[in-house]
Amino acid sequence: MLQNVRNRMWIGNEWVDANDGGTFETVNPATGERIADVASAQAADVDKAVASARAAMVDKGWRGMNPHKRSKLLWKLADAIEANADELGALETADNGKPYFEARKVDLPSVVENFRYFAGLADKIQGDTIPVAGPFLNYTLREPVGVVGCITPWNFPLSLAAWKVAPALACGNAVILKPAEQTPLTALRLGELAAEVGFPPGALNVVPGFGESAGAALVRHPDVDAIAFTGSTEVGKIVMREAAETLKKVSLELGGKSPNIVLADADLKSAVRGASTGIFYGKGEVCAAGSRVLVERPIYDEFVAAFAERASKATVGDPMDEGTRLGAIVSEEQLDRVMAYVEAGKAEGARLVSGGERTTVDGKGNFVTATVFADVASEMRIAREEIFGPVAAVIPVDDVEDAIRTANDTIYGLAAGVWTRDIGKAHRVAREIQAGTVWINTYNQYDSASPFGGYKQSGFGRDLGYAAALDKYTQTKSVWVAVDG
Ligand code: NAI
Ligand code: MG
Repeated sequence: MLQNVRNRMWIGNEWVDANDGGTFETVNPATGERIADVASAQAADVDKAVASARAAMVDKGWRGMNPHKRSKLLWKLADAIEANADELGALETADNGKPYFEARKVDLPSVVENFRYFAGLADKIQGDTIPVAGPFLNYTLREPVGVVGCITPWNFPLSLAAWKVAPALACGNAVILKPAEQTPLTALRLGELAAEVGFPPGALNVVPGFGESAGAALVRHPDVDAIAFTGSTEVGKIVMREAAETLKKVSLELGGKSPNIVLADADLKSAVRGASTGIFYGKGEVCAAGSRVLVERPIYDEFVAAFAERASKATVGDPMDEGTRLGAIVSEEQLDRVMAYVEAGKAEGARLVSGGERTTVDGKGNFVTATVFADVASEMRIAREEIFGPVAAVIPVDDVEDAIRTANDTIYGLAAGVWTRDIGKAHRVAREIQAGTVWINTYNQYDSASPFGGYKQSGFGRDLGYAAALDKYTQTKSVWVAVDG
């Protein structure tokens, strides 16, 4: 039974309906059942949230709060999330369709760690004293940017919200979080928990709604100072264009078509496992998914056989069942996209060696079997476009040079993996790949301390890590004081 399903907007530490009374349905993709009708924020509602956030940046309650106290509040919020992790995990699974063990055992602990990491940053933000010429004292202040709009996607709803909200609050900003319309429930509960542990009104507001209405209004709003966005490259471009009008500070974490390179000297068993989690973890609805698997020819046939075999054993099932490895695709719309790519792969002549079937569990829900295409060529759409589903494209490569060239033959640059026992080669590949993250003999590792973000059209700005947080969520003021010359 789901607990604490919240369905109104969270503004100024209060639940409010949309100004026009509008709502939208959020649905459990594993069953097709409606979970709740949620308030659908429009421009007037975003105005209200921005006013509340702005007030917090003027009122001493939030803006004047001493950094030790801010740190303590973030730590208390981490504790509250931890104490409610079962409930939040269940909400996430119901809204997104991911296996409960992924939500509860991977996402939730990382969210808790993230708030604790940035709690530690809150009271260590400081400026410099700078040796300028002349009889002056010059120093810098690191100040919050102001009102920060965070727009997040549906694949890791609470984790990706935490990646932005925790550092933005740690740096003393007021935040308006706009969760994806497919998955608003954990964000709403986060707002409520923040108030329960003592965050003052306006510090964290949550406005559920659609991108074209709520998201766009936030991006256009003249009193929002920065936008931190995670989502599709297509919408990232719109956000950047729209934000130009009011010169907002923008950071974009966008899509990918990440290469996972398996060299001939790799430990085959680990490489197969890594290729598999690289694309099937989170149903492949992962921005860094290793969706292109580049395999050196000497081991190509052996690898494809083992990979297909492993994929065929990835259990599709009820997300609440412990044995389930592939949960439900987030929405019917997304499942249609995935299936269209499966058809495109077949039509373009790739060899389907596993999966590719739409299915249901107990006659319900949006499911697809773990899909592997072999003999994929770089020109094919399944090798170029982000599918965002459990579909791997295996591409043969001649040698390490060919692997690097093929890996970089994409508009994206979010992440990459390389599997080899040759440590020198591994580090060389890491340098040559144009991507914000490179994993060597592992895949999909994240830590609050390690920066994550894109090269090329995978965006710019980094999430996680203290340096990236300071860069995104503070601005520097230079102060000059005349001293007795
Ligand atoms: P999307 O980019 O439309 O959604 C991400 C967020 O942006 C949501 O909160 C959405 O409401 C918001 N948004 C949409 N249009 C907006 C606008 N004009 N102004 C401001 N905010 C806006 O992604 P969508 O349509 O849900 O998924 C489509 C494809 O995008 C997926 O198949 C996948 O390829 C990619 N995607 C990539 C993600 C990533 O983490 N890199 C996350 C989600 C989707
Ligand atoms: Mg969209």
